Amino acid sequence: GAAELGPYRHYMQKEIFEQPRVIGDTLEGVTGIMPELFGDGAYKVFKQIDRVLVLACGTSYYAGLTAKYWIESVAKIPVNVEIASEYRYRDSVPHPNTLVVTISQSGETADTLAALKHARSLGMEHTLTVCNVATSAMVRECKLAYITRAGVEVGVASTKAFTTQLAALFLLTLTLAQVNGRLTDEEEAAHLKAMRHLPVAISSVLALEPLIIAWAEDFARKENALFLGRGMHYPIALEGALKLKEISYIHAEAYPAGELKHGPLALVTEEMPVVTIAPNDTLIEKLKSNMQEVRARGGQLYVFADVDSRITPGEGVHVIRMPEHYGLLSPILHVVSLQLLAYHSALARGTDVDKPRNLAKSVTVE
Ligand code: G6P
Repeated sequence: GAAELGPYRHYMQKEIFEQPRVIGDTLEGVTGIMPELFGDGAYKVFKQIDRVLVLACGTSYYAGLTAKYWIESVAKIPVNVEIASEYRYRDSVPHPNTLVVTISQSGETADTLAALKHARSLGMEHTLTVCNVATSAMVRECKLAYITRAGVEVGVASTKAFTTQLAALFLLTLTLAQVNGRLTDEEEAAHLKAMRHLPVAISSVLALEPLIIAWAEDFARKENALFLGRGMHYPIALEGALKLKEISYIHAEAYPAGELKHGPLALVTEEMPVVTIAPNDTLIEKLKSNMQEVRARGGQLYVFADVDSRITPGEGVHVIRMPEHYGLLSPILHVVSLQLLAYHSALARGTDVDKPRNLAKSVTVE
């Protein structure tokens, strides 16, 4: 009801703004990296595994894709991420030393539960879930669990569940790295410090809302949009496009920016807004040349640029300055701005933001 919404117009907006708090809640009590944070016996399991298989659907699948970048780069363990509804029906090559990780807000998604059972039937017994509902079937079915503390998420389009999943998956990354002998005490301390500072960093992204509202007015008049990201921000581009299409019904697609020339560039005209995630990382110069490819075809760039990535606004180049580059946790900051862009574009189009047509909050049948 209205009382619960407080100053917000929709649950989605309220949930976006709850992110600093619920990320803090999810990481509460994490004073150091300890396998037991994932349940009794976690150390023994983490010692035995030498690969990770992530199973999930929708937004949770994109959290898994982001985690692949983290785990492979920090813990040096190979990761496969599979869409649950595909994995359960394909022939795959199982390996007993696999940590099977399901990611689910509800813990009741039929495809993800079935994929988990399928993995187990193939002899993979080491199971862990990152889940937002402690009493769910998923938590009962998995040996290990990390319960995110996003609280009840009402908006069908997932927001705070996603960023709390990312926080939990980063913690899993550090834990696997530690067990694998890949994390020095100094690195652990630095990562923990960055995690503790996340609520403040997210708040500074939320403060960009007025600038994003101005962009959303342009987007509301479009029927298509492209989202570009590279590296660990590619899954964030996918999530940004998903958010926009789910609630505003604008057709949106995401590409890793280096893939532009292999197809989507054919769609770029003056009519095409191209949302670009521009973190100040090692790929920034390559990204700048991808941006030029778009400008050369008249495409309109809407760039979320870390303040230190030195991208200046100009003809056809709109820039919103994000905080300084936030290292490995940067995807968590960048997705928040894309959530706001989707929300305000939908609001400007007058759609039913919290209950988009044809979609359900949790899909408990196949
Ligand atoms: C539905 C929801 C999505 C969610 C997906 C997976 O499609 O609308 O927001 O990402 O299910 O749900 P889960 O509860 O397993 O994370």
